[in-house]
Amino acid sequence: MIKLPGLIDPHVHLREPGAAHKEDWDTGTSAALAGGFTMVLAMPNTKPPIFDAETLDLALNAAEQKARCDYAQYLGAGPDNAEVAAALADKAAALKMYLDATFGQLRLDDMSLWMPHFEKYPRHYPIVAHSESRSMAAALLFAAIYDRPVHIAHISLKEEVLLIKAAKAKGIKVTCEVCPHHLFMVSQVSEEEIGKKKEGRLEVRPRLATQKDVDALWENLDVIDCFATDHAPHTLEEKDSDNPPPGFPGLETALPLLLTAVDNGQLTMDDIVSRMYVNPKKIFSLPDQPETWVEVDENAEYEIRASRQFTRCGWTPFEGWKVKGRVRKVVLRGKTAFEDGKVLVAAGYGKNIRKQEKNEGLY
Ligand code: DOR
Ligand code: ZN
Repeated sequence: MIKLPGLIDPHVHLREPGAAHKEDWDTGTSAALAGGFTMVLAMPNTKPPIFDAETLDLALNAAEQKARCDYAQYLGAGPDNAEVAAALADKAAALKMYLDATFGQLRLDDMSLWMPHFEKYPRHYPIVAHSESRSMAAALLFAAIYDRPVHIAHISLKEEVLLIKAAKAKGIKVTCEVCPHHLFMVSQVSEEEIGKKKEGRLEVRPRLATQKDVDALWENLDVIDCFATDHAPHTLEEKDSDNPPPGFPGLETALPLLLTAVDNGQLTMDDIVSRMYVNPKKIFSLPDQPETWVEVDENAEYEIRASRQFTRCGWTPFEGWKVKGRVRKVVLRGKTAFEDGKVLVAAGYGKNIRKQEKNEGLY
């Protein structure tokens, strides 16, 4: 048996308000506990999106009643909410900026709309950028110009990890995360067809990339600060439609996949603890969770099955994958929250971690 700290996922989509048929705060945080996560940071591309005091309350009220693990809620950067978002910063996980097309309507195309957010959002929290390829380079330039922390969500490309490495060497305040699906899966279409041919259930943003990209992520693991799931549940019916929305569930598969990589010698346990606990805690100024830990049976071998998951979406892109390592027990703030396949804390046990005192920040 291995004991780990309660893991932190800085990137989940819990779909409430607005799309509880895909997931809600109850099912999403149950999935988190089953995956060994005791804290999740929830993205703002809900319906409506979370971008001011009223919509933040909407999400936090649902969370207060339903969450089973601890959490914080992101604010989304919109075309005219820079001042409002900055004033709410201590109540939010951080600010999320969508600089590329994805699920939802929170995209900011014009760079002049990025500027007020970079000027105003408090520097002791990162701005999290969904930015791919050249727009990621623009986000790094903004981090340099405004001399403030930027966290690049879900990097997937060789050019991205290499540019972040170079930016870090120059002292630019950038951190980044990678998702298990970008570490363990390659695109099923040819390199020329990526972005042109539909990928059905495997639609995800950023798209699954080439073997060359996956190899570059593994070769530059030291550049990667966090492993984040980008848990993005959509129902199987939606995924199998003519126009499948992008996204994979990931909360319940991340740790088993990464533990399997430890078993294969690709990773160490320290790599997991630094990227799923130490670094996210520092980057996002997250509080301690006293008396909180995860017990893992590192020798349990089994096949991933959607039918065993708590997520409401009903599928996983890793169906049937053989893994080694199972979450056996999760203790959260002194209470056994999950044990042997069962969630044992009630809806509402989860706490909003931004209700506590002021945060210092990484820089
Ligand atoms: O694949 C994705 N799905 N990428 C995103 O950035 C958003 C997410 C979602 O909300 O479904
Ligand atoms: Zn996301």
